[in-house]
Amino acid sequence: MSEREPAAGRVVLPEAGEEDVAFDVALRPRRLEEFVGQDRIKEQLGLLLEGARRRGDPMEHVLLSGPPGLGKTTLAAIVANEFGVGFQPTSGPALERAGDLAAILTNLQEGDVLFVDEIHRVPRAVEEVLYPALEDFKLDVVIGKGPSARTIRLELPRFSLIAATTRPGLITLPLRERFGFSPRLDYYSQEDLARIVTRSAGILGVTVEPPGAVEVARRSRGTPRVANRLLRRVRDYAEVRHDGTVSREVAALALALFEVDERGLDKVDLAILDAVVTKFGGGPVGLSTLAVSVGEEADTVEDVYEPYLMQLGFLKRTPRGRVATEAAFAHLGLAPRPPRPGDGPGLF
Ligand SMILES: Nc1ncnc2c1ncn2[C@@H]1O[C@H](COP(=O)(O)OP(=O)(O)OP(=O)(O)O)[C@@H](O)[C@H]1O
Ligand SMILES: [Mg+2]
Repeated sequence: MSEREPAAGRVVLPEAGEEDVAFDVALRPRRLEEFVGQDRIKEQLGLLLEGARRRGDPMEHVLLSGPPGLGKTTLAAIVANEFGVGFQPTSGPALERAGDLAAILTNLQEGDVLFVDEIHRVPRAVEEVLYPALEDFKLDVVIGKGPSARTIRLELPRFSLIAATTRPGLITLPLRERFGFSPRLDYYSQEDLARIVTRSAGILGVTVEPPGAVEVARRSRGTPRVANRLLRRVRDYAEVRHDGTVSREVAALALALFEVDERGLDKVDLAILDAVVTKFGGGPVGLSTLAVSVGEEADTVEDVYEPYLMQLGFLKRTPRGRVATEAAFAHLGLAPRPPRPGDGPGLF
């Protein structure tokens, strides 16, 4: 295991389970034009695709980063589909040894997309094998051991790597430099999420009134995967307790029942805010202390929960630790704490 490997396992969204995986596949857009939002990235990718197509080259290597559930895997599969080439998915943790990577690389067809999810978890020794493969489509294989060992160089088909990461900061410079395009996906606007909810409802055969879609979108923490999950909960509620139509009222009642609050915060989000505000007097509190106090892995708190709480302006990272803002106190219905020296700008 490399020293860069996070201690925890794969970071997943709260409550993400097998049901999510099945729906992710069913609701996944197949074409760039079906992919809602992220307009600039879509336009940039479209241009890259067209350029490569005209020159008869493979696509440039692309690194997609951003929080879980924003569409990184979806975009990678769309690129392969639009380009009319094969899509070979793997992930950082699956590439334990150089041989694992060599087996995949030598099985690629000309032009194929190799998708490596969680690329920040590829061990260092495997990453080094990747460099010449990305740059010159060459693979160095060591045969034998000790003094009689020798290296042979294999030609690989020209492929493109699309890598995804929730942690771009952990990617080494030499690897980063080998990507021709490295967009960062951001949280979706409420309008885009409402369009995603409407699209998914169409696929699932659920009737959603426009204000119902907006209500689900508003509580989806900027994340399409969450929007799709909340839609399924709302559908259950609408079918069991009402006539099956998702109106604004039905959506609000359903989401209140499932403990998703007005801003999309769930129990864990609220536990984190409550810990910073009440247990630690508004902070600063260190990440690991905070994680232990809410019973989550530090990586999960950092990758999944904090980015959204920071996006809402409820939490700030300071050199001394995490600090709750005035808005966080207000969201919990509490009076703000008095300002202290050294709070920094924008807190109170
Ligand atoms: N722009 C979009 N338009 C419509 N649906 C989307 C969009 N982005 C994501 N989705 C939906 O959200 C689901 C999750 O997306 P995806 O699996 O691509 O996220 P991810 O960024 O790869 O997440 P992770 O980091 O957890 O692997 C997809 O199945 C798809 O249904
Ligand atoms: Mg993914």
